Amino acid sequence: MSDVPSKAMIKLTINDRDVEVEEGITVLQACEKLGIEIPRFCYHDRLSIAGSCRMCLVQVEKMPRLMPSCALPCTAGMNVQTDNDVVKRARQSVMEMLLVNHPLDCPVCDQGGECDLQDEAFAYGADRCRSKEPRRQVRDKDLGPLIKTVMTRCIHCTRCIRFMDEIAGSPELGAFACGEKTEIAPLHEGPLLSELSGNLVDVCPVGALTSKPYAFKARPWELEHTDSIDVMDAVGSNIRIDSRGGQVMRIVPRENKAINDVWIHDKTRFSCDGLALQRLDMPYIRHEDGRLYPASWPEALDFVGNYVSDIAPERMAVLAGDMVDCESLFAMKSLLDKMDVPHRDCRQDGANYDVRCRAGYVMNSLIAGIDQADAILLVGTNPRHEAPLINARIYKRWRQGGLAVGMIGAPADLGYPCTQVGHSPVVLRDFVEGKVPFAKTLKRAKNPMLILGAGALARMDGAAIHGMAREIAEACGLIREDWNGFNVLQLAAARTGALDVGFLPHGTHSMATRSILAAAMGNRLDLLYLMGADEIDMKRLGKTFVIYQGHHGDRGAERADVVLPTPAYTEKNGTYVNTEGRVQRAAQAVPPPFGAREDWSVLTDVAQAAGYGVSFKSFDDVRRAMIAAVPHLGQVGEAPMNAWKMFGSDGTLSLNPFTPAVPNYYMTDPISRCSPTMAACAQEIWPLIRPEGGEA
Ligand code: SF4
Ligand code: SF4
Ligand code: FES
Repeated sequence: MSDVPSKAMIKLTINDRDVEVEEGITVLQACEKLGIEIPRFCYHDRLSIAGSCRMCLVQVEKMPRLMPSCALPCTAGMNVQTDNDVVKRARQSVMEMLLVNHPLDCPVCDQGGECDLQDEAFAYGADRCRSKEPRRQVRDKDLGPLIKTVMTRCIHCTRCIRFMDEIAGSPELGAFACGEKTEIAPLHEGPLLSELSGNLVDVCPVGALTSKPYAFKARPWELEHTDSIDVMDAVGSNIRIDSRGGQVMRIVPRENKAINDVWIHDKTRFSCDGLALQRLDMPYIRHEDGRLYPASWPEALDFVGNYVSDIAPERMAVLAGDMVDCESLFAMKSLLDKMDVPHRDCRQDGANYDVRCRAGYVMNSLIAGIDQADAILLVGTNPRHEAPLINARIYKRWRQGGLAVGMIGAPADLGYPCTQVGHSPVVLRDFVEGKVPFAKTLKRAKNPMLILGAGALARMDGAAIHGMAREIAEACGLIREDWNGFNVLQLAAARTGALDVGFLPHGTHSMATRSILAAAMGNRLDLLYLMGADEIDMKRLGKTFVIYQGHHGDRGAERADVVLPTPAYTEKNGTYVNTEGRVQRAAQAVPPPFGAREDWSVLTDVAQAAGYGVSFKSFDDVRRAMIAAVPHLGQVGEAPMNAWKMFGSDGTLSLNPFTPAVPNYYMTDPISRCSPTMAACAQEIWPLIRPEGGEA
């Protein structure tokens, strides 16, 4: 939000071209800007400079020997040669040394086709080896269920060590011994514990660290790429879905500096094997014997249509799930408006706070705003498990120095020091009154920030916590014309979009989630329609007739009387709004299972079967109507600024301590619960990182 001063420019010569670059950048970075390719192994633009592999050597006039360009700052008047014969010979020597001990594994190496070493061997490798020594033998390391190691391929670039130290905030790898005996190894027994460990697969320039679940599954040239958005949390990380033959093979990050930079967390990357399992691929109807039987679409739609048309709208309720796209929510809302159904909610967790002001439910300072913060108060949130990339951003900011972090909530290991200010919401009032020392820290800060967890808002006193958090923001100087430090960290990918669409109780006597569940339990509802909603307690639905529309045979489908199969997020287009309020679009990468149908078309047919005309003829039709009703949903990539208005309510703050909002990071939704990889992580890693109060 503040202006960054522009840097001074300096002049130098690269490959006989006079160029002007920003002062302070390295020769390698200058070459990148000019489109000159410099080979590198240890250099990674998000990590500190190691300058160890020597692959990026360049010749600089008046310097006695070749210099590593990744570690050489540009200076005025410098004359650099990047690809003359001297430089090429030096790089050939470096390659020869690297390949002396490298196995001839390319045909069976998962890095093949996207390997930096393989690529550079084409340019600088020799066609024979002069060494007669036996190749180095290195024992593979057990890093847990996510990362496969073949340590004979390691070139000791140390990127993995630096990534774990500098980005993941979890220093778990190190280099042992020296010279030819050097080995990269974990610092502790057992699996890697970081939720960001999967990024090692991208960081390692060779096939020493690869994805264990993806081992031998596909070759890069067989894959189709689709740019999309992650829905495993509310961050909206930019991803690329790689598919083959209609199956998602892997998910990798896409760069978006404002959101996820170049990283994704392990659930985003590795839960994709759950997409193909336990899928709903045809409609089901529960018969009198209590079992679900397959049905054709016309049968199921007739059944649902007749059922819906026979009951009064106020005896129906709809709950929307955490992964539903805005178009589907809008189509459902349009149908419910037409049917006059008042009871609907998108907050499965039971949150019932004031959402009239958009600034009251988004991350106003944006994720990138963390880079400018100098004091952060976390309230009822554990960002490490709720949004690992936001936690990584806070960690990165902390490493730069000058950041104080305070926590009101369940104690947690976040990877950086955090002052425990309190455990329960009552401390918030002391905060407003300035009785807590950390309140002074916030007040003194230039860019103070408060991050309020969605879990805090789902408590019985959530509305009061919301109001009190607003008061803290106003009392501690978080709200200025050029800075808004009030942030809500949503947990669900669908939540901000659903609130924007207005998928909320409608009318004076309408019920929100808690009341809907109480009515279901008391048999005061005739129908509960679950639209991808699996996170409610299915035991609290009494004898209520349940229709489940979704993609996995998870909790909702198990309880349902009718099941209507629809596509998962990788199988359809859709709009999502992340916790910043940024509008993004997910794209279809693979077709849905044969019997599944898009949500909007299921809803249109249900409406027709029930005797209500809904006019959507296509997905684009729904999208157009949605944007007409909520214009900012058409501003893709934008996070509109929100006016600061009064929101929140008074109420009693509870003495009950905050508890973790994510009971188990590896099992949060129908896809991750069906993923064998996530199941292995839940078994091997979760017991080692489980915070106080987390699921045993
Ligand atoms: Fe081949 Fe690269 Fe694998 Fe080495 S790491 S075996 S060069 S693909
Ligand atoms: Fe580099 Fe990979 Fe070896 Fe780590 S394991 S030092 S990233 S080559
Ligand atoms: Fe410059 Fe390794 S990339 S020394």
